[in-house]
Amino acid sequence: MKKLLTTILSLGVAASAALAADSITAVKVSDVNDASAWAKAKFTSVVLYPQSAIHMNDKKANAANENNKAKKADVAALYDSKNIALMVKWADGTKNVQGSYSSDTYSDGFAVQFAGITKGSQPLPYIGMGSAGRPVVVHLQKATEKVYEPNGNKDVSTQINRNQTALFGDELKAYDAKVASLAKTDYERVFVAEGFRSLTEIKDGSVASNANMTYDGKGWTGTLVRPLNDTYMKSSGTVPVAIAVWDGEKMGRNGLKNLSPWVSINLEGQKPDAKIVAETTEAPKGDAAKGKEAVAANGCAGCHQIEATDAPSFMGPSLANVGGYSSVAYLRESILKPSAVIVPGYNRNAHSNTPWYNIEKGKRVSAMTDFSFLDKKTVEDIVAYLKTLKAEVE
Ligand code: HEC
Repeated sequence: MKKLLTTILSLGVAASAALAADSITAVKVSDVNDASAWAKAKFTSVVLYPQSAIHMNDKKANAANENNKAKKADVAALYDSKNIALMVKWADGTKNVQGSYSSDTYSDGFAVQFAGITKGSQPLPYIGMGSAGRPVVVHLQKATEKVYEPNGNKDVSTQINRNQTALFGDELKAYDAKVASLAKTDYERVFVAEGFRSLTEIKDGSVASNANMTYDGKGWTGTLVRPLNDTYMKSSGTVPVAIAVWDGEKMGRNGLKNLSPWVSINLEGQKPDAKIVAETTEAPKGDAAKGKEAVAANGCAGCHQIEATDAPSFMGPSLANVGGYSSVAYLRESILKPSAVIVPGYNRNAHSNTPWYNIEKGKRVSAMTDFSFLDKKTVEDIVAYLKTLKAEVE
């Protein structure tokens, strides 16, 4: 499979012809693993916004990412009777590949997030790794050199200290030879998550997926093949996905990434899923200028950084890019039902650091004021304003 995909990538699919659209068309082919199938792919331009919700506890990384712009990725999809395949192309002027032994370097990478199986009819999961009862399936591929994982937990941080060469040079040489013979060249992971802290890696091989990335001097091309249906995901005629990319040059990791909103992939020739299409393409109905006034009048800035130029606040997530990666439905829900999704950060200016929720009767309740008293029109105006909060495209 690896070899085949490398051939696919070397075909140099013309991403320049990408159309900007709010949904992607997956072209039906007889076999997504047949290299020639990509010649039929239709590329769509998707914008990925800096996920500024949660500040990192890392001054250097925060400084490097202060003025991040949105990035464009060109995305195409194919499907056959079993699988869906995605190709994601994005510009990145510096190739950052993580070696096995460095702990202070970060790699470029990409992820594709799918909506997991929920009970009943639910809105799409929280864009940042799902939330309780609304799981996501995340496929993550990082650019890595050979990685040897001696403890079987895929934990590279426990490896030996390279600075000790003077002490045991020969042992080190023997160790290196062993690593070279055992190492894998790939860092590919699949997770299910119902919220950032509930990330569970699927290691039992129950997801038959394959991801790869190749660099061409100007940017990356990532591919992913995974089943349309398995234990974790059931597909209709529309498959919602979110794309994320990490920039190792800017010490990107965890939430320090660029993230798209949920985007619909419509399987060509199949009946689109009206509910998913509506949720991923809903345009705001309110008046953004009035919404800005309502945000000021209701004290939102007391807890949130609103625009990127405002001072950061640790009482709640930064809203500086929230309009880029959040749907209208999600923003409406955030105002009316703050506890429906609880963004998993904490106020690190408090003593001690306090999470953005309180526990009441065993349940997590958002620390945000409940604004369900606002009239419908004001809520729609605020949502329209929040949708304008996003970085421009670089
Ligand atoms: C008392 C502090 C407080 C106030 C006032 C407040 N919020 Fe929040 N808000 C929070 C906290 C804490 C969270 C994170 C926990 C959660 O998800 O509910 C949050 C989450 C959000 C989110 C989700 C952000 C994301 O990244 O997904 C949005 C949108 C939001 N608030 C909008 C508003 C708006 C609009 C107002 C004013 C009408 C407001 N907030 C007022 C504390 C506050």
